[in-house]
Amino acid sequence: MFNWKEEYGVGIEIIDDQHRELFRIGNNAVKLLKDKMRLDKFDDIINILNELKNYTVYHFQCEEKIMMELGYKSFLSHKVEHINFINKINEIDIDNIDINQNASILEILDYVYKWIDEHILIRDKSINNSINN
Ligand SMILES: [Fe+2]
Repeated sequence: MFNWKEEYGVGIEIIDDQHRELFRIGNNAVKLLKDKMRLDKFDDIINILNELKNYTVYHFQCEEKIMMELGYKSFLSHKVEHINFINKINEIDIDNIDINQNASILEILDYVYKWIDEHILIRDKSINNSINN
């Protein structure tokens, strides 16, 4: 499960609130993976993917606007990571989802876990550092 911890906070309230939303979407994917009663998960997987796609649009726009306002130095390299994440989500093969449903959920979960570890905990935390420096 995705459990929110203090250490995930970047110290900018609106960004932290939106990051919690990513945890919520991630937890829905975990619940879906564990749900053995549901034989056909295709529609639910598509819903999660759509939620993730919507999330990346409004969240990255919001974060990038804040970075610009703060004069954040690593704006471009940070934005490239956002674009890479959007591309990864968009590259998930819809036809393949139906054939390997649980594997597709695991693939999505893997992206989200890595994103939290490698992006939120490192890159996003550096946004707030730019306020103090
Ligand atoms: Fe970010």
